Amino acid sequence: MGEEMPGNRAWFQDWANEYDTTLGKVSRHHIMLDLAVLVSGVAPGDEVLDIGCGTGLLSLKFLAAADCRITAIDTSVEMLALFREKVEQYGLSGRVRSRQTSAEEMDFGPGQFDIVAATVSLHHVKEKAPVVRSIRDSLKDGGRFVLGDIDLDTTGDHEDPERLSRILAYLTSELVLAMREGGVQAFERMYDNGRKHILNDGEYCVAMNRWEELCRDAGFRDVTVHPVPGFDYFKVLVATK
Ligand SMILES: C[S@@+](CC[C@H](N)C(=O)[O-])C[C@H]1O[C@@H](n2cnc3c(N)ncnc32)[C@H](O)[C@@H]1O
Repeated sequence: MGEEMPGNRAWFQDWANEYDTTLGKVSRHHIMLDLAVLVSGVAPGDEVLDIGCGTGLLSLKFLAAADCRITAIDTSVEMLALFREKVEQYGLSGRVRSRQTSAEEMDFGPGQFDIVAATVSLHHVKEKAPVVRSIRDSLKDGGRFVLGDIDLDTTGDHEDPERLSRILAYLTSELVLAMREGGVQAFERMYDNGRKHILNDGEYCVAMNRWEELCRDAGFRDVTVHPVPGFDYFKVLVATK
């Protein structure tokens, strides 16, 4: 018998096959990804690292926006396999390399990338400060870290009713959207995800102002936060090395 997979990884392996037909169908997600690409200022020739690439929704938008090159990493082999299929299908193999590794373990060496991007992946990282520092190290001088994520503080005591109300308010807006745009399949997946947010079971969201603080502490300058139009709980942060 092989080594047992950590719970969160197993959950993503399981989600991979229906990712594009659940979260991938929610307009809010695509609006956030488009905004992340726009504010990144991606240009031809740029080297872009996509952390937690999933099925490649963000990477494909970068590839369409500019003649850049993508390095994509994810902990899930299933997610990576689906992204690799798309890369083959669209004839993009020459512009994409991908590797199974985690944000915590990645080791690309200093000054490799013009842009490091991560959308709804880094809230899965519990110890965020070392990862933000390693992102900074992997960027070239003047390179940008682009983070699209949930602006929600789920830290604190699980039995604190105020914390629970805060998370439930977020979940209400997400679940209504999921049902409206992705139907029962999307609703079920996001509902299951909701429990994970409440119990910090592989989901460790912090408020966007905490991410700003983490970036400044890691030595980034010009940290700016862009709201995702129409979706108060989602923001895109850009920080320059
Ligand atoms: C919600 S999906 C986001 C996928 C893609 N970035 C997008 O916006 O559509 C989160 C992805 O992060 C990956 N992931 C979770 N924890 C990770 C970690 N510690 N390091 C790298 N990837 C991780 C999951 O396997 C999953 O593919």
